[in-house]
Amino acid sequence: MRTQVVIIGAGPAGLLLGQLLHKHSIANVILERQTADHVLGRVRAGVIEQVTMNLLDEAGVGARMHADGLVHEGVQICVDGTRHRLSFKELTGKTVMVYGQTEITKDLMDGRAAVGAPSVYSAQDVSAHDISGDKPRVSYQVEGNTHEISCDFVAGCDGFHGISRKSIPESAIDTYERVYPLGWLGVLSDTPPVSEELIYVRHPRGFALCSMRTPTRSRYYIQCSLAEDIESWPDERFWQELKPRLDEEARERLVTGPSIEKSIAPLRSFVAEPMRFGRLFLAGDAAHIVPPTGAKGLNLAASDVRYLARALVEHYQERSDAGLDHYSERALARVWKAERFSWWMTTTLHKISDNPFDYRLQLAELDYLFRSKAAATAFAENYVGLPY
Ligand code: APR
Ligand code: PHB
Repeated sequence: MRTQVVIIGAGPAGLLLGQLLHKHSIANVILERQTADHVLGRVRAGVIEQVTMNLLDEAGVGARMHADGLVHEGVQICVDGTRHRLSFKELTGKTVMVYGQTEITKDLMDGRAAVGAPSVYSAQDVSAHDISGDKPRVSYQVEGNTHEISCDFVAGCDGFHGISRKSIPESAIDTYERVYPLGWLGVLSDTPPVSEELIYVRHPRGFALCSMRTPTRSRYYIQCSLAEDIESWPDERFWQELKPRLDEEARERLVTGPSIEKSIAPLRSFVAEPMRFGRLFLAGDAAHIVPPTGAKGLNLAASDVRYLARALVEHYQERSDAGLDHYSERALARVWKAERFSWWMTTTLHKISDNPFDYRLQLAELDYLFRSKAAATAFAENYVGLPY
């Protein structure tokens, strides 16, 4: 079998790339280790930058997002019981969209099915061969039978634990990492959100976040230790720990209910560079991870894919490799700025140490944010997404 681009991984990065390439008549096959149902069962973040929205529209899958997504003009930050609002609209003229990654994945899968582009789910032992030459191949197994696809390029969109990044010789890639000694315990519940806007909470007991999926479905997180066992967090204990971190109004408005999903996520910053080795290009979580505090994971995956799709179109339509040659550099310029913002959000809003000096610095940082239009504008520009 032969195709132009083999895409490893059917998360948002792989599916979006497949859709954009298909629009430009570039043949591609997606190989995914899990089943489609498993991929759709994962609950992930849900704040989308304007530039990501535009890209989903370009890929022809934005209709449901525009119908069901919630446009947010600002965000709220609660510091030790007092809430402050930052208006993206006033500071930048832009807004963000709250629409779950699970829904985006579904829209992308439906879009792919509608155009009949090939995807192989439950593909085991996916491995890339000869990526440093000009005739790469990708092999995989389905139900014990081995298959092989020859191609022009391989797109590694298989997330942090995928095989793509690991296929690159260690001497050809540098990695940068910070692992935070904390996690987020998240609960999804069919209860109305406590506020129309997201509330990021800085509190001596630890960080909290009040988010949402729809007007009747809420997503809450609290900072927890990495050693925490999910079994020791029945719903009641979660709500009891969330409440004291909120301001009085939010505490009174909070509607609790049974969780429909509960999970613990570790917080990590990670970047691998360059994002290319020969004919293998990395995109999304395969190349970088951000802690969720800045809501940038999905948006960075989308911006990588935008650069990569345009570079591949340039290669096939204009016979120019300039875009491919600059892919890593262009993508990383945006990645590192999102790494910085996500690190800043994380270290400013979490209980990161027992040293009171750190706590006082956080308060000074936040006081400056609320009082200075320059600081607020810098925050808003980053939150709504920096230009490409
Ligand atoms: N072979 C094939 N597929 C694989 C392999 C493998 N060896 N390893 C992983 N995969 C698949 C995973 O099952 C998953 O469906 O690759 C996909 C990677 O998807 P994501 O982890 O969602 O990564 P990405 O598409 O880059 O999306 C980034 O998703 O993880 C969140 O926070 C992240 O919001 C960000 C966004
Ligand atoms: C979410 O709704 O899951 C969410 C929102 C904002 C974040 C992280 C997660 O920063």
